Amino acid sequence: MRIAEYGAENRDELVALADAVLGEGFFRNPAEVGRSSNACVLVALDKDNRLVGFIRGRLLGADGLSEFLENRVPEVPEDITQADAEGTLGVIETVVVNPECRRQGIGTKLLLVIHDTIIGMGADKLIATFKRGPREGYVDTLMEKLDFQYWTRLPTYWQARCERGDFVCAGRDAKCNCEAVLYRKKVF
Ligand SMILES: CC(C)(COP(=O)(O)OP(=O)(O)OC[C@H]1O[C@@H](n2cnc3c(N)ncnc32)[C@H](O)[C@@H]1OP(=O)(O)O)[C@@H](O)C(=O)NCCC(=O)NCCS
Repeated sequence: MRIAEYGAENRDELVALADAVLGEGFFRNPAEVGRSSNACVLVALDKDNRLVGFIRGRLLGADGLSEFLENRVPEVPEDITQADAEGTLGVIETVVVNPECRRQGIGTKLLLVIHDTIIGMGADKLIATFKRGPREGYVDTLMEKLDFQYWTRLPTYWQARCERGDFVCAGRDAKCNCEAVLYRKKVF
C-alpha cells in the first residue's frame, strides 16, 4: 500500500468510495475534488493501484473558520481563534477506508501523512471535522494516538443537506442521524 497525492485518474474510484461509505452524492461536484490551491487530497493505493482510501485536508485562509463551520461553532478556544486570525489553522475533513481493507493501519497512515502535509503548508494548529453517524465513527482512538483532543460536536451540521436530499445518506431513517464531531490539536 502506498499513499499518493490525488490525481484526476483517481476521481471515479474516490467518488464511488465516498458514495458507498458516506452517502450517495456526498461530493456535490466531483470535478472539484482537490481543486483548490490550499487543499490536499491524499489517496491510499494497493499494489494493483486500486484506491482503498482517501483523506482531505487544507490550510484555511485567515478568518476562514466561521465560514468553514457554517457559523455553527458555539465557543472557539483562544489558540484556535488566534491561528484562524493568522491563517495558520489547518483542517482535516474526511477520512475513509474501503470496508474490506480496514484495521490494517491505512486510516492511521492517511492521517499521519495529511497531518504532516498541512503543517508543511504552514499550519500550527489543527482541527479535524468528521461526519459521525450510525455507519461511521471509529476515529476517537485514532485521533488520540495522533494527540488530538476532542473539541465539540455539531449535532445539526449535516441536517440541512440531508433534509434537502443533497446526498443519500445510508445512516438516515425517518430523520438525519449524523453529526459533526470536532477534534483539535496545538502543533506549535
Ligand atoms: C475510520 C476509518 C477511516 C479507520 O480506517 P482504518 O484503516 O480501519 O484505521 P486503522 O487500521 O489505522 O485503525 C486505527 C485504530 O483505530 C481504531 N479502530 C479502527 N476501526 C475500529 C473499529 N471498527 N472498532 C474499534 N476501533 C477501531 C483502533 O484503535 C485501530 O487500531 P488497531 O487496529 O491497532 O486496534 C475507517 O473505519 C472508515 O473508513 N470508517 C468509515 C468512515 C468514517 O467513519 N470516517 C471518519 C469520519 S469522516
